[in-house]
Amino acid sequence: MAKTIQAIRGMNDCAPTESPLWQWVEEKVRRVLASYGYAEVRMPIVESTPLFARAIGEITDVVSKEMYTFWDNDEQLTLRPEGTAGCVRAAIEHGWSYNNEQRLWYMGPMFRHERPQKGRYRQFHQAGVEVFGIANAEIDAELIILTARLWKELGIEQDVTLQLNSIGSLEARKNYRSELVKFLEQHRDLLSEEEKERLLKNPLRILDSKNPELQKVLDGAPKLLDYLDDDSREHFAQLCALLDGFGIPYEINPKLVRGLDYYNKTVFEWVTSALGAQGTVCGGGRYDGLVEQLGGHATPGVGFAMGLERLVLLVQEVNKNIDLPNAVDVYVVHQGEGAALFALQVAEQLRSELPQLRTMMHCSGGNFKKQFKRADKSAATLALVIGESEVQNRQVVVKHLQGITEQQTVDLTALTDFVQQQF
Ligand code: HAM
Repeated sequence: MAKTIQAIRGMNDCAPTESPLWQWVEEKVRRVLASYGYAEVRMPIVESTPLFARAIGEITDVVSKEMYTFWDNDEQLTLRPEGTAGCVRAAIEHGWSYNNEQRLWYMGPMFRHERPQKGRYRQFHQAGVEVFGIANAEIDAELIILTARLWKELGIEQDVTLQLNSIGSLEARKNYRSELVKFLEQHRDLLSEEEKERLLKNPLRILDSKNPELQKVLDGAPKLLDYLDDDSREHFAQLCALLDGFGIPYEINPKLVRGLDYYNKTVFEWVTSALGAQGTVCGGGRYDGLVEQLGGHATPGVGFAMGLERLVLLVQEVNKNIDLPNAVDVYVVHQGEGAALFALQVAEQLRSELPQLRTMMHCSGGNFKKQFKRADKSAATLALVIGESEVQNRQVVVKHLQGITEQQTVDLTALTDFVQQQF
């Protein structure tokens, strides 16, 4: 036998047994977003590399270590590691956000060359939202309320908690940064080689170090919230007041800085403890400077993205009440002269008149015994049985596969109504 070829590490297939749950989750996401009036956008999976370097930041892990980059003749291209950069690029290019408010969403694959483990993959899927043109905290609150509604819809609301912070303006972060570096210099011995390098380039990222000893020390570090500019402080107070008024619990996490450089003011993450190390199911925040930084007119922006693999895993873990549709409701079997054609016609009639049902026709021959085995395996509720006499009389035998109800012979003209009554 020829040697088989395997999927790329960290890039998964979605099996036919898994896709119904994925579709269920995706449909909930679509419905919730539609109910807030958000519009879908679709961007290319590949963008020019400098877009990500400029938007996400050269010294972030994503850009410096995790991008799938290649040359296309003399142009350097990258498989998108996230959706915000491409969405902002598209908004500028097509004028979507110019003097305009936009509430947009997208869903699709993203690529990061990370070390794969449960909940962390090299090709993964995000559903993301980007809102342009709205500066005040009401929209930040709306985004959080929207995600909270989605968690309810998915049945995971008991298993996620909201972490919130404000990282202020660039100026405020600069002031904070030098204080933080002074503090960290006193604890240099606790820093790993990578963290020592971060101390020079991106010290705020040390705040989410995985080293428990360092984390304990960091509890005593200067807090970014104490260095906020007045505008950011007020914005954050407004957001907190709206969430309090609405009754959404949150934890202010002064160490939450996020791994992408474009944020200012609000940052947030929804986290779970049910998935092990990869517990962030959704992350986002405000990025008021990004549109201008990428060459557009100054336009405030805010958004988030959730990891669909993590949501699907969490739903599987905690929501045992999902009623996923069967792949097949009605299975049509047939044998004898003229039966195949009649069966095709019967199946088409049902698909036209009862499109909500899933009707599958047996196509691979064999006697009734073999065909019924297939019908049982499909887990259909009904089998429609067509033999030569049914063809002659334009009738169908309807047999319940899941119960003990007697089978019945039904005229073709009455079949649609009869089948409908069985569901
Ligand atoms: P992010 O935090 O990098 O933010 O990713 C958002 C979510 O994507 C994470 O919380 C996680 O659920 C999921 N995710 C990230 N990397 C992986 C991976 N390797 N495997 C599986 N899931 C993963 C962003 O991407 C921003 N663009 C979000 C945003 C939109 N901010 C403003 N607008």
